[in-house]
Amino acid sequence: MRVSSSPPDGRTPLSPCAPSRCALLNTWLKRCERGTSNMRRFLLIAALLCTASVVRAQDVPSGAKPSTAPGPGTVASSGAPTITNPAPAPTQPVAFSHKKHAGDGKMACDTCHAPARNGVTVAMPQASKCMLCHASIATDKPDIKRIAEAAQNNQLLQWVRVYRVPSFVNFSHDTHTTAGAQCADCHGPVAEREAITREKDLSMGGCISCHTQKSAPTGCDTCHQLNSVQLHAPLPASHAALLAGLTSSGHTGMDQSIHRFFTVLSPSLTSSTP
Ligand code: HEC
Ligand code: HEC
Ligand code: HEC
Ligand code: HEC
Ligand code: HEC
Repeated sequence: MRVSSSPPDGRTPLSPCAPSRCALLNTWLKRCERGTSNMRRFLLIAALLCTASVVRAQDVPSGAKPSTAPGPGTVASSGAPTITNPAPAPTQPVAFSHKKHAGDGKMACDTCHAPARNGVTVAMPQASKCMLCHASIATDKPDIKRIAEAAQNNQLLQWVRVYRVPSFVNFSHDTHTTAGAQCADCHGPVAEREAITREKDLSMGGCISCHTQKSAPTGCDTCHQLNSVQLHAPLPASHAALLAGLTSSGHTGMDQSIHRFFTVLSPSLTSSTP
């Protein structure tokens, strides 16, 4: 595996916002100096995004191909960026191994993860599915006994989720697999894994990185309902990841996108202010 040589905190230094490009943002920031803290936080993010696009414009000589270097903590890969040191796998109700089933056993992914809700999502398997085999395979093992018990009592296996996007993000599996994306592009070599960790970066930066690679749309409203109230809930823990994705993405139309983001979002924000 080729490990990125960028420093763990390889942020792009921010330069002051160029007045011409960020005039809109600065006006809004001033206007809401006494506004809600949510609105200020939101504007801060947008101002950072705006600044980032200015930095990018300064860093990249005109005509040069924008950098596609992976962000901090990632290695180059197709699809979503790979996370070098993923957090350990959560403890699952049963020690299920993809390597045993999808690898050694060559079971197809959709045996257990059939498309659901019109292909927007895929199913997580329940005990009855496991019992198709485990009614007769490894029946003496403690894990299998537990599955048999759950099947008998109609109990759900409470799998701890590894990948999740927040509700204010539009995502559909079907759109992506139809476009030719492979499971491994977004989840890594699952069939080689004893346990699933979040080894692919599917944060905003990760999504945008692949969209840029594949010339898929990158406007804010591709992935967000612009009037979504949740969109300005908690401030991102890592602005760095957000910005790294955006600054390395060679975005066109970013300013226009942010502008639209504002004009649609601000009425709902101001109307919710007492
Ligand atoms: C493996 C690369 C890849 C990754 C990673 C990826 N996408 Fe995509 N996405 C695509 C491609 C390619 C398309 C274009 C599909 C088309 O035009 O038919 C697309 C299309 C979409 C669309 C539909 C756009 C439209 O209106 O047709 C949405 C929404 C979307 N992606 C959201 C996301 C989100 C959210 C994430 C991260 C959680 C993400 N994508 C990660 C490759 C990717
Ligand atoms: C197509 C058949 C099949 C299905 C369906 C299946 N398994 Fe298995 N499973 C196997 C085989 C074969 C083994 C290997 C048995 C061995 O090594 O003795 C195994 C092994 C296991 C083991 C390891 C048992 C041990 O301690 O050695 C666990 C745990 C397990 N499966 C869980 C599950 C769960 C959970 C499901 C449902 C989500 C499931 N399996 C569905 C065939 C299947
Ligand atoms: C025998 C059933 C079975 C097969 C076949 C299977 N999986 Fe799974 N998968 C599970 C179970 C059970 C879990 C929940 C436990 C875990 O995370 O390991 C899971 C979890 C996952 C997750 C994590 C989802 C999340 O957000 O928590 C991904 C991603 C995944 N599988 C992808 C795949 C891919 C890709 C394949 C084909 C290469 C595949 N699976 C084949 C049973 C299966
Ligand atoms: C473009 C990226 C992408 C591709 C390709 C992709 N996934 Fe996912 N997968 C995601 C994202 C993002 C989530 C979290 C979705 C959510 O929270 O609604 C997810 C969630 C899951 C889950 C948890 C259940 C769910 O739907 O939320 C499983 C299981 C899973 N994927 C399996 C697969 C399998 C199997 C394939 C190949 C057929 C696949 N994924 C292809 C990005 C992808
Ligand atoms: C390709 C999909 C995609 C595009 C395009 C996109 N986002 Fe996001 N955005 C996401 C995802 C996924 C998250 C959730 C990240 C997470 O939870 O790790 C997110 C989160 C956010 C958040 C909340 C941060 C937080 O964690 O609270 C804001 C604000 C945001 N996006 C603004 C924007 C703006 C402004 C644009 C246009 C410049 C944009 N997004 C374009 C996918 C996208």
